[in-house]
Amino acid sequence: MARTQRAVEDLTPARAKAELEMLAREIAAADLAYHQGDAPVMDDASYDALKRRNAEIEARFPELKRADSPSDRVGAAPSEAFSKIKHKVRMLSLANGFEHEDIADFVSGVRRFLNLGSQDPLAFTAEPKIDGLSLSLRYENGRLVQAATRGDGETGENVTANARTIDDIPVEIESAPEVLEVRGEVYMSHADFAAINARQQEVGGKTFANPRNAAAGSLRQLDAKVTASRPLKFFAYAWGETSAPLSDTQSGAIERLSELGFVTNALMKRCDGVDDMLAHYGAIEAQRADLGYDIDGVVYKVDRLDLQGRLGFRSSTPRWAIAHKFSAERATTRLEAIEIQVGRTGALSPVARLTPVTVGGVVVSNATLHNADYIAGRDSKGNPIREGRDIREGDWVTVYRAGDVIPKIEDVDLSRRSEDSKPYIFPEKCPYCGSDVVREPGEAVHYCTGDLICPAQAVEKLRHFVSRNAFDIEGLGSKQVEAFFSEGWIMEPADIFTLETRHGDELRKREGWGAKSAGNLFRGIEERRTIPLNRLIFGLGIRHVGETAARLIARSYGSWAAFAEAMEAAREHEGDAWQALNDIDGVGPVMAGSLVDFFHEQANRAAIERLVAELDVEDVEAPATADSPVAGKTVVFTGTLEKMTRAEAKARAESLGAKVSGSVSAKTDYVVAGPGAGSKEKKARELGVTLLNEDEWLELIG
Ligand code: IVH
Repeated sequence: MARTQRAVEDLTPARAKAELEMLAREIAAADLAYHQGDAPVMDDASYDALKRRNAEIEARFPELKRADSPSDRVGAAPSEAFSKIKHKVRMLSLANGFEHEDIADFVSGVRRFLNLGSQDPLAFTAEPKIDGLSLSLRYENGRLVQAATRGDGETGENVTANARTIDDIPVEIESAPEVLEVRGEVYMSHADFAAINARQQEVGGKTFANPRNAAAGSLRQLDAKVTASRPLKFFAYAWGETSAPLSDTQSGAIERLSELGFVTNALMKRCDGVDDMLAHYGAIEAQRADLGYDIDGVVYKVDRLDLQGRLGFRSSTPRWAIAHKFSAERATTRLEAIEIQVGRTGALSPVARLTPVTVGGVVVSNATLHNADYIAGRDSKGNPIREGRDIREGDWVTVYRAGDVIPKIEDVDLSRRSEDSKPYIFPEKCPYCGSDVVREPGEAVHYCTGDLICPAQAVEKLRHFVSRNAFDIEGLGSKQVEAFFSEGWIMEPADIFTLETRHGDELRKREGWGAKSAGNLFRGIEERRTIPLNRLIFGLGIRHVGETAARLIARSYGSWAAFAEAMEAAREHEGDAWQALNDIDGVGPVMAGSLVDFFHEQANRAAIERLVAELDVEDVEAPATADSPVAGKTVVFTGTLEKMTRAEAKARAESLGAKVSGSVSAKTDYVVAGPGAGSKEKKARELGVTLLNEDEWLELIG
């Protein structure tokens, strides 16, 4: 990272403060990436340099040392795992019911146990069963002193530091009993889960299978900073040890917890009998999809606490409560075979072919197996998943659907594994072209090295090329492309546009096609001979280059000629053209490298030239507001901005049609320099580029 750095002696307190803040942020980000085992964001030397700089500034301005100063934290691997905590009152689980009769039986069982007549009143609470992980919070004299996971119910893990970072968990409560253990569920909302996975994907980190895993993974972090960065939530629904009773009813106790500052679930309702309970179950189930977090059933509890006391416990579940589970979105079936698919970028994806089974109302016959490690029962770091159980052809497996996504395999039933089954051997050669399969260090995915000779990659590339957000050719879908490919008529994108000349007559006469369909197809193809630059770039199917990125890249270069020239000029991964590519918003070094290397490959280049020769590529203009004074101008921001963040300034400038660059050159139109600007300001002066301060810039853009 290029940074103009002032000698520590020359720093003003304001600059020092700003820099300490930035350092704390950057170091925390690096620590985070390190602890999550994500792709490191910087090398060791750069990391050390940041820590050193931080220490130097703190030494010169001790009064500015931050509460979260990186120097107070051990950056490297934490030294010890969580300590164990023995629960004063055991953390139990719940008996399950599935059918309405199960709940009716539960209610009549309770009545019988308590020797109540059928007319005696008996109230229950009904509330959502949150699909997260349970946590016990111990408060002494109103202060949170300990947080422990459930563990095996007897002994859990001490996650106090992590629990303190969760907003829903008060660290201090007023007018509480001297000792109070509050219990509830830690969970993650759907929105936060999606955002975290998106972020993980962006940085190449591991993604979570579902919100519960994400919540568990986030809570069980050795570094509380990581937990703090994860948006966890907490519902209080029970308690453990208390020095004084919270209430004489379950509903009253929950209300009390709410008054004490805990978040309790608004869908809890007091019900007068089984009909009422089942009606509320129906109401909760109907809202399930809109809650924004996962629930997997409804929990009923006897409302009167004296009755709860009389009912007591079985070995590990209370007699006074039951979980009414929603019908399972899981099912058990046989894994018939493991097949390997090869995608357009050459990635090998193992897929489980299953004996069809209904999961949550949908028939499932395939499930993703992710990668070789997943099949072998370990994650990308070599830690066991499914307690190390591998997946084999012929196994009995549990399948589940998380949301609407592709079904996944949750576990394998070893007791049903046949004796002669053998561990799955991941192929070393591509099953489609026989080329070697490689796995880059640090990557979970295997790739086929056959690239241009691999028919599987070629078909997938063509499929992508004609897909909806790329060329979207009417009459030429996935199936047709595959058929033309196996016939040898369309082997690469350019062939689509010469199909009529080469095979038009044949196709018009062909059974199942005929003149009309063939005519429609050729018309569809002709319509797409003119194509906007962004669709072309996306259609090429370059690794890491998605639709949004393609649009940003197209806007940045404007024309095919400019884009192609830039790719050529950037081929060594250095120089102005390389820098300019990296400066495009949304383009990082990985994507830039992938783009440039794709073009540099001779065979790709030739295929692209054949394609472009058939096309009329439309220029793409930056969405410049015509009357914006900075439309089409190149702007560089440097130094500290005081009225807005750098990111905001950049976004604002871009929305007005300006191009924001990181480096000053003769092509730069404006350099906006704030306090602390260094070499860029100097270079602007040397080159005679217009220099503006922040206020002048704001005035310019109105
Ligand atoms: S009451 C003594 N209420 O479900 C029983 N549990 O399958 C205390 N859970 O370990 C639990 N939502 O982690 C209760 N509203 C709720 C719940 C709930 C989720 C979890 C909890 C428990 C598990 C049992």
